[in-house]
Amino acid sequence: AVVSVQQALSGSVAPGKEVTVRGWVRTRRDSKAGLSFVNVSDGSCFAPIQVVAPADLANYEDEVKRLTAGCAVIATGTLVPSQGQGQGFELQATAIEVSGWVDDPETYPIQPKAHSLEFLREVAHLRPRTNLFGAVTRIRHCLAQAVHRFFHEQGFYWISTPIITTSDAEGAGQMFRVSTLDMANLPRTGKGEVDFSKDFFGKETFLTVSGQLNVEAYCLALSKVYTFGPTFRAENSHTTRHLAEFWMIEPEIAFADLNDDANLAEAFLKYLFKAVLEERGDDMAFIAERVQKDAITRLQAFIDAPFERIDYTEAVSLLQNSGHKFDYPVEWGLDLQTEHERWLTEVHVGRPVVVMNYPEQIKAFYMRLNDDGRTVAAMDVLAPGIGEIIGGSQREERLDVLDRRMAQFGLDPAHYQWYRDFRRYGTVPHAGFGLGFERLVVYTCGLANIRDAIPYPRAPGLATF
Ligand code: 4AD
Ligand code: MG
Repeated sequence: AVVSVQQALSGSVAPGKEVTVRGWVRTRRDSKAGLSFVNVSDGSCFAPIQVVAPADLANYEDEVKRLTAGCAVIATGTLVPSQGQGQGFELQATAIEVSGWVDDPETYPIQPKAHSLEFLREVAHLRPRTNLFGAVTRIRHCLAQAVHRFFHEQGFYWISTPIITTSDAEGAGQMFRVSTLDMANLPRTGKGEVDFSKDFFGKETFLTVSGQLNVEAYCLALSKVYTFGPTFRAENSHTTRHLAEFWMIEPEIAFADLNDDANLAEAFLKYLFKAVLEERGDDMAFIAERVQKDAITRLQAFIDAPFERIDYTEAVSLLQNSGHKFDYPVEWGLDLQTEHERWLTEVHVGRPVVVMNYPEQIKAFYMRLNDDGRTVAAMDVLAPGIGEIIGGSQREERLDVLDRRMAQFGLDPAHYQWYRDFRRYGTVPHAGFGLGFERLVVYTCGLANIRDAIPYPRAPGLATF
């Protein structure tokens, strides 16, 4: 039977039984005793399986002994408990078929040695073959599965929101245009403006920056819902925390306020980290060994500690009185920068912090205005080592206040009629948040750069393949 390396190593296959494993060679070592050890990985788990190739294999001299990193092989034999290192089983091969050779082993980019992350980003199509990107990929998958499981267990429904939209969900004007118009010959209106009525959808369209406004519609009918999909931002940020294309998870809950929202965020993040520690011990052990020493204890501490909650106003005075010299100014009414966020979560409390109730002028139009008239019911969840990982809010459910906020932000109500309808027909207090999936992966894997948390990163000037 064909088994995965994970199955072969786990002992779930009876020893002595003939099995076939298929994968890619990591290393080959020839022993003086006239046999070879070929490590084969198929990505099903962190560890490769050791395939023991005896010299009496028909193709031993002319094929097995020419195997190099990256060659694809199909190995058949029996599983025997392995002598050495913690590994459960090895494969005593009776046949090794080579499915694909590596053209030029000398120049094959993924050699069995440490590569720099910068170099690996240039070979994004080959980097999944490395230990690190195998581990990151499996952890990313584990997190995605846990996201759906958490919401399913809590009675949420998953809503697919559109990728092509006509409205700017954040009102921040950071949208990529979607168009089929001929750039060299744009249709113009009488006023000389681009005539989007001639475009594919008959109007101007964009890639979504957030599924929130669309998911609110489903929240106000199904009560507990979430989106999980790609989002796009044309922000010119050359940082280690920003991507132009990233995945976002956005739950939305009805009959809920900002505290309910913060409670949900806390339970959610803890659930996700617990899943990783339970299910990806092999990959996390590698991360702790090679990427970040305290990767595991850090996640455990995150699970164990209650989140701190601080009002924005209080956070500002804490920062001002910290005695720390920040690069960016701290002043009531200004947004918090990463260095401020990190001071709060790392230095001041030493665990995750939820900052709540930000000045209304620095937050999105849909956030609920507090009774003080100058703050909105917004929250950011800040995590040690990264800063903002979640952004959320209670939504403005009062039509008159929403209209005033939209006018203040210069938004055209015509684009938001459908969104206004929720406040006209059975409005209720509701709240939600957005978790950047790659920020979560970066944090979990202790990575320094978000470009290593997604298979094909997109950022200003970067769109490979
Ligand atoms: O704070 P943001 O902009 O909030 C929203 O989009 C709301 N609509 C969410 C909601 O209430 N439903 O983004 C939410 C999260 C951030 O906290 C961050 O984790 C991530 O999305 N994020 C990015 N991740 C990678 N690259 C970028 N350019 C990101 N911008 C935001
Ligand atoms: Mg934010």
